[in-house]
Amino acid sequence: MITSSTEQIDDSKLDITLRPQTFSEYVGQEKVKNNLNILIKAAKKRVEPIEHVLLYGPAGLGKTTLAHIIARETGANIRPTSGPAIEKVGDLGSILTNLSDGDILFIDEIHRLNKLIEEVLYPAMEDFKLDIIIGKGPSAKTLQLDLPRFTLIGATTRLGSISSPLRNRFGVIHRLDFYEDEDIEKIIHRSSKILEIPIDSAGAKTISRSSRRTPRVANRLLKRVRDFTQVENCDTITEELSRRAFANLEIDKLGLEPTDRHILETIIKKFGGGPVGIQTLATATMEEIETIEDVYEPYLIQIGFLARTPRGRVATELAYKHLGIPDNRDQDKLF
Ligand SMILES: Nc1ncnc2c1ncn2[C@@H]1O[C@H](COP(=O)(O)OP(=O)(O)OP(=O)(O)O)[C@@H](O)[C@H]1O
Ligand SMILES: [Mg+2]
Repeated sequence: MITSSTEQIDDSKLDITLRPQTFSEYVGQEKVKNNLNILIKAAKKRVEPIEHVLLYGPAGLGKTTLAHIIARETGANIRPTSGPAIEKVGDLGSILTNLSDGDILFIDEIHRLNKLIEEVLYPAMEDFKLDIIIGKGPSAKTLQLDLPRFTLIGATTRLGSISSPLRNRFGVIHRLDFYEDEDIEKIIHRSSKILEIPIDSAGAKTISRSSRRTPRVANRLLKRVRDFTQVENCDTITEELSRRAFANLEIDKLGLEPTDRHILETIIKKFGGGPVGIQTLATATMEEIETIEDVYEPYLIQIGFLARTPRGRVATELAYKHLGIPDNRDQDKLF
């Protein structure tokens, strides 16, 4: 789906061309950038690798990008891997023993590491030691290897799924937030220069409003509107061309697409506006729980269309209004 903030195949090429390389190119997230800058400068003064960093926040907000920028700004080599890619304890062992002093190990989707592997990570993060068990049963021996002083950067969309022992071993934890509209506009202007497709400021504003405050979505929409603009034989993206491109894609002016509306309409029409449990909602919409939770819900909550309550999801008055459905519920009894 077009406004999905998760990565899609043709994104990876686009992501790399459009990916900022330095803090100065990285738009927005000022607090996080400042803190990371201090962390990096202080570590440089002490001639030490930086502490382990955990970055979390919704998909497509720039966690992977930041990890690469940190590596670049510290002059460190980065070894990227991901939670699901590390299947066995031995996989992590070989990654760790192949690191050099000062390297950055980047583990994307770190919440998907399995427990056994996590436990190998604890002493590695804390004391730069790797425990290896040789043999089985009563004659098994533990051997301890010294590891190089590396920095672990972890990224996750789900902080809540990270065990507290793992979380506690990070020196710094930063949350990336949805971007301000002006920041998204800046990102669109920057990307349009790189893609060599002129865009006027009303065009950038229009695309920005539908970008779910997410850089990856902004870049993806920009690309779609560029295609539309070129097919129309125009050379500059304008508000009108953007609107027409979005109408074709069934994206509304808040960036909601058919699936978002389907989720909201289901809550409203089938469950009286909620509360409805996530499992029931997933079955009724034929979406996966994880997709609803990671892809659709964060933005719907952010714009105040959906609320999470202990009894389930509730569609808000704003959602009713947006969909043009009268809301006759007793507001006092909702939450
Ligand atoms: N602050 C930013 N300024 C400019 N462009 C950005 C910024 N953050 C992200 N982008 C753009 O958005 C794309 C997606 O960012 P990135 O891959 O870092 O997101 P992510 O948070 O790692 O997502 P996921 O959770 O899906 O892995 C990048 O390739 C880059 O082009
Ligand atoms: Mg990423």
